[in-house]
Amino acid sequence: MERKTVFSGLQPTGNVHVGNYLGALRNWVALQEEYDCIYCVVDLHAITVPLDPASFNQDRIDAAKVLIAAGVDPERSLFYYQSQVPQHTELAWILGSITGTGQLNRMTQFKDKADRAGSNLGLYSYPVLMAADILLYRADAVPVGDDQKQHLELTRDLAERFNHRYGEEFPIPEPIIPETGARIMSLQDPTSKMSKSDENEESRILVLDDADVIRKRIKRAVTDSGSGIRLDWETKPGVSNLMEMLSLFSGMSMAEIEAEYGDSGYGTFKEVVAEAVIEDLAPIRRAYGELEDGEVARLMQRGALDARTRAEGFQQRVRRRVGLTG
Ligand code: AMP
Ligand code: TRP
Repeated sequence: MERKTVFSGLQPTGNVHVGNYLGALRNWVALQEEYDCIYCVVDLHAITVPLDPASFNQDRIDAAKVLIAAGVDPERSLFYYQSQVPQHTELAWILGSITGTGQLNRMTQFKDKADRAGSNLGLYSYPVLMAADILLYRADAVPVGDDQKQHLELTRDLAERFNHRYGEEFPIPEPIIPETGARIMSLQDPTSKMSKSDENEESRILVLDDADVIRKRIKRAVTDSGSGIRLDWETKPGVSNLMEMLSLFSGMSMAEIEAEYGDSGYGTFKEVVAEAVIEDLAPIRRAYGELEDGEVARLMQRGALDARTRAEGFQQRVRRRVGLTG
């Protein structure tokens, strides 16, 4: 039987944090066992907010290195930079022509980002480029965190609309969103998600942070003035977030955590969480240290070459459907 296709992307802005890792990356790695996987460093999505061109290429290499160190395997999966495969933007334009502006106006991530950084056309059409990424390869499934749900809905909608107007071409992709870990919260404000763009670096743990930094971040994580380790997102969001991290990093269930640490003080519990995070992330940090920039750049070049060939085969069918071939 032919394997199903998985596609996902990550922006090379700032550093990859444990939210990215638990919400998306871990799934990317696991899915390689069963699926035909395509993973993309989405550099064109990243430039929709102001970036420093002098360091951007290094940011891309660093992001690619973190992904490889975490287990994305360029020998098994197609892995490349989005900007090196022009079929993404071509398909985005075609899909843009069947996207209602009313629909884009409802995208909550656009509204958030536009409020913070100011609006521009790239930011506005960001979800259309994301739909193109996914549909370009006829992906069946898309592993992402909870914050991408709305973008996935739009992608499904555009696939249906295209099929209706031009003939059956795209499968309708399914999101793969983990039951726990899909929304890891900020360590400083456990009612908002952990984010790369938060100005306060104490709000997140990076996949490459060393043991001392991880201990410090967790020690300073906001909890509440009560006591007791129990899962209660309403009144104990900080503790619940730490419990979720412990569960995902150690494999313990929530019930096991409550049974074992229910009566512990916050200080003691935080030490346990920190050690679990440190132990799980250490091999990634080590693998990252062993990767060379030049080697990664070469892998990405090769990935782009393969991706272009594959994308072009699919894209010819889209052009034919739309009436863009002679
Ligand atoms: P980004 O950094 O925006 O490119 O996100 C890469 C992936 O990480 C996407 O699939 C996001 O949904 C996921 N992600 C981002 N932040 C979090 C978070 N706080 N918790 C869980 N998943 C997240
Ligand atoms: N928008 C996603 C994010 O911010 C990144 C992304 C771009 C993506 N293209 C994608 C995710 C295609 C999944 C599939 O996290």
